[in-house]
Amino acid sequence: TLLIVDFGSQVTQLIARRLRELSVYCEIHPYQNVTEALLETLKPKAVIFSGGPDSVMREGSPRPPKAIYELGVPILGICYGQQVMMHDLGGKVEAGEHATAEFGRAYVAPSDTKSELLTGWFLGEREQVWMSHGDHVSEIAPGFEVLGTSPGAPFAITADRDRGFYAVQFHPEVHHTPNGKTLYENFVRLAGFSGDWTMEAYREQAIQQIRDKVGDKRVICALSGGVDSSVAAALIHEAVGDQLTCVFVDHGLLRLNEAQEVVGMFRDHMNLQVIHAQEQELFLGKLEGVSDPETKRKIIGGLFIDVFQKYADGIEGAEFLAQGTLYPDVIESVSFSGGPSVTIKSHHNVGGLPEKMGLKLVEPLRELFKDEVRALGRELGLPDSFIGRHPFPGPGLAIRCPGEISREKLEILRKADAVYIDQIRKHGLYDEIWQAFVAILPVRTVGVMGDGRTYDYACALRAVTSVDGMTADYYPFSHDFLGETATRIINEVKGINRVTYDVTSKPPGTIEWE
Ligand code: XMP
Repeated sequence: TLLIVDFGSQVTQLIARRLRELSVYCEIHPYQNVTEALLETLKPKAVIFSGGPDSVMREGSPRPPKAIYELGVPILGICYGQQVMMHDLGGKVEAGEHATAEFGRAYVAPSDTKSELLTGWFLGEREQVWMSHGDHVSEIAPGFEVLGTSPGAPFAITADRDRGFYAVQFHPEVHHTPNGKTLYENFVRLAGFSGDWTMEAYREQAIQQIRDKVGDKRVICALSGGVDSSVAAALIHEAVGDQLTCVFVDHGLLRLNEAQEVVGMFRDHMNLQVIHAQEQELFLGKLEGVSDPETKRKIIGGLFIDVFQKYADGIEGAEFLAQGTLYPDVIESVSFSGGPSVTIKSHHNVGGLPEKMGLKLVEPLRELFKDEVRALGRELGLPDSFIGRHPFPGPGLAIRCPGEISREKLEILRKADAVYIDQIRKHGLYDEIWQAFVAILPVRTVGVMGDGRTYDYACALRAVTSVDGMTADYYPFSHDFLGETATRIINEVKGINRVTYDVTSKPPGTIEWE
């Protein structure tokens, strides 16, 4: 185990992410819990001190137990972690004054290129790093030497090779330290890790944690069929079996065959207890005559909570609510980026419910990024076709039917969407595209089919590439593909006689039409 002592940095999880990329097993423990007893049980092979917002100069600021320095294992201190090390081991830290505080991009140059910690790192003369500190080390502890400096940090990289203690002033785990991973790679190699840890191991560990937390209590989960809630449900089911009950809310705004596919897979294929809440009438009824997008969202969100609560109330003794919260949902603001927050706000359909119902949360994916969730899903035996599915919004087809919703339009939309997705799959483009769907437009246009005049709906095809949905570009289909797809939709879907392709990027557009 590699122990990460968390001193409260916003990016501690990123350290874990970098280590997992190197196939090294690590555990993050908040500094308060890092006691001698924990060190005794964990027997870490190496330790990393995270950054943190506090000042070591402050009485009572976060510290590790002194015994950690006596374990005889390598330690890497980052930012606040460096200051803690220097302070504890006899160096000096000075309180931040404006002139010495450093925030943002800086460049470190090596003073010792031969250090094993820096192998492969300095490809040029200097490396870009990300600094974010108020206080700074003014005198390194006995036994330490300087491996690298930046204009603002004479002790940017320091090492006590005999003891295997390393300390850096910047954050090698963030994106703005582009080659920071090399530093972690060197550190774990120095610590003797062979990098053979896998997602299978993560699964075992997560299952154990869920069992410890849940005990013999019941867990409920709002299953949407999306990747996150699916993987969370599969994992929790593996941990506590039938103590988990899933509720799949069918609001009548799902894609063609979607409810059957999701319920069929989880109930019949994977043996989960799934309640199929058939509430189409309720949702569609309340949406009648509503055309404003935000009003639609509010109605759907509110009903979703009511419905979920109604079914959950019928589940005897539920104490936990499972959620597929991912790490990007957890980072509230990435202050290190300096710019606007990059947080992706998840549209949690059951927001506020845990408090209202007195439920405790189980969020077994909190430490994972999307690609890791997919890897875990595969590990749990979910089919690839499920794991690679495009995102689908909570309000479903309601926001793909601009203006007033009607059953007729939804029916047409479902069919057109199914043809479009079938085309995309047939042409092998599904995985290249981040999200694709059809929107049915609130206009009828004139057409001619055979000898007759038609007066039917127009639709718009949408397909985008994106990394996180925050920005997006339209997908450059070939004209042949577009022509063929338009022909198929018009021939196969009664009610549509005109097909358009949406070539708007985001910004200025959004991905959905509403
Ligand atoms: P926009 O349209 O904002 O969409 O560019 C970005 C991503 O978010 C999804 N989306 C939603 N998901 N509830 C959801 O659960 C919503 O109200 C909602 N609105 C948009 C959208 O499908 C895309 O993936």
